[in-house]
Amino acid sequence: MKAQKIVVLGGTGFVGRHLVPRLQRDGHTIVVLSRNREQHRELAVLPRVSVVNADVYAAASLGRHLAGADAAINLIGILNERGSNGRGFHKAHVEATQTLIAACVTAGVPRLLQMSALRAGEGESFYLKTRGEAEECVKAAPLAWTIFQPSVIFGPHDGLFFRFAPLLRVAALLPLARAQAKFAPVYVRDVAEAFARALAHPHTAGRVYELAGPRTIELGELVRWTAHMIGKRRLIVPLPDALGAVQARIGEWLPGKPISRDNFRSLKLDSIARADGLAALGIIATPMEAVIPALLAGDGHQRHLDRLRTGA
Ligand SMILES: NC(=O)c1ccc[n+]([C@@H]2O[C@H](COP(=O)([O-])OP(=O)(O)OC[C@H]3O[C@@H](n4cnc5c(N)ncnc54)[C@H](OP(=O)(O)O)[C@@H]3O)[C@@H](O)[C@H]2O)c1
Repeated sequence: MKAQKIVVLGGTGFVGRHLVPRLQRDGHTIVVLSRNREQHRELAVLPRVSVVNADVYAAASLGRHLAGADAAINLIGILNERGSNGRGFHKAHVEATQTLIAACVTAGVPRLLQMSALRAGEGESFYLKTRGEAEECVKAAPLAWTIFQPSVIFGPHDGLFFRFAPLLRVAALLPLARAQAKFAPVYVRDVAEAFARALAHPHTAGRVYELAGPRTIELGELVRWTAHMIGKRRLIVPLPDALGAVQARIGEWLPGKPISRDNFRSLKLDSIARADGLAALGIIATPMEAVIPALLAGDGHQRHLDRLRTGA
C-alpha cells in the first residue's frame, strides 16, 4: 500500500491513541489536529506523527492543514455537552463534520473516514440524533467516504470498565439506570484495524461498517462481571426508568457527569450490530474476556504500588 498523508481530527483521545500508532506502522505520515497539543505530547514522539493546534470549526485554518493530504479521519465526538439543549452535540458532531467536508473539498482531499456510533440517527438523544445528521452530511459529500458505527469500545483506560472499576472498588452497592441496555463491546485495537483496512482498500468507500464485539451483554451483567474481575462482591441494583431518570438528572450535577439525561435517552436503544462490519473487513473480533481481566489486574497492581509509594 502506498504511504499516505492523513489528517486526524479528535485523534488525541482514547481511540486516536491506538489508531494513530496503527496507521503510523503502515508507513503513513499523520497530522493530528488538537485544541491543545501541549496536553498530548506522547503521540508526537512517534516518527512521521505530528500534533498541531488547530481550530477545527474554521474552514480556512482547517484547509491549510489538509493541503496535500490523501485522507481525513474524523474522530471528534462528545458524550456530554455543557448545557442540555443539544447545541453542544450539534457543534461537535454536525458543525465539525460540515466544516471538515467543506475544507476537504476545497483542499482536494479525496477520502474521509468518519467515526459515528451504532444506532446513529435513531431515538430521542441529542447524541444519536446529531450522529445521524453528521452521517447524512458525509453521505451527501462529493468524497470517497467510509462511516464506522461502533458499539461501546473497550481497551486500556476506556470509559467503560475503567469508569465502573473505581466506583466498584469503593461502593458496596451500585444503583444502575437502564441496567437492561444491551451492548456488544468492541476492542479498540479492532476498531483501529478497521480504519487501517478501510484506508488500504478503496472498495470500502461508500460503505457503513457496524463494529461490534463477539458478546452481547446487558449493562447490569457487565458491571457485575467487572466487580468479579476486580475481586469485589457488590450489589448492583437495577433502577426502574422513573428512578433512572432521576439518577440521570442528578448525575448532570456531579463531577465528571457520570450520567446525564441525554446518556439515559441513548441507553434506551440497545447498542448491538445488525451486520458484522469487522468480519466484512477480515478482522476477527476480540472478546472482552481476552483483554479486560489482565488490564484491570494491571491497574489494581499499579494502584497498590502508588499507595505504597505515597503511603496513602
Ligand atoms: N469510546 C467509545 O466507547 C465510543 C463508542 C462509540 C463511538 N465513539 C466515538 O469515537 C470517537 C473517538 O472516541 P474516543 O473515546 O477516542 O473519544 P475521546 O477520548 O473523548 O477523544 C475525542 C477527541 O475529540 C476532541 N474533542 C472532544 N470534544 C471536542 C469538541 N467539542 N470539539 C472539537 N474537538 C473535540 C478531543 O481532542 P483535543 O482535545 O485534542 O482537541 C478528544 O481527544 C468519538 O467520536 C466518539 O464519540 C466512541
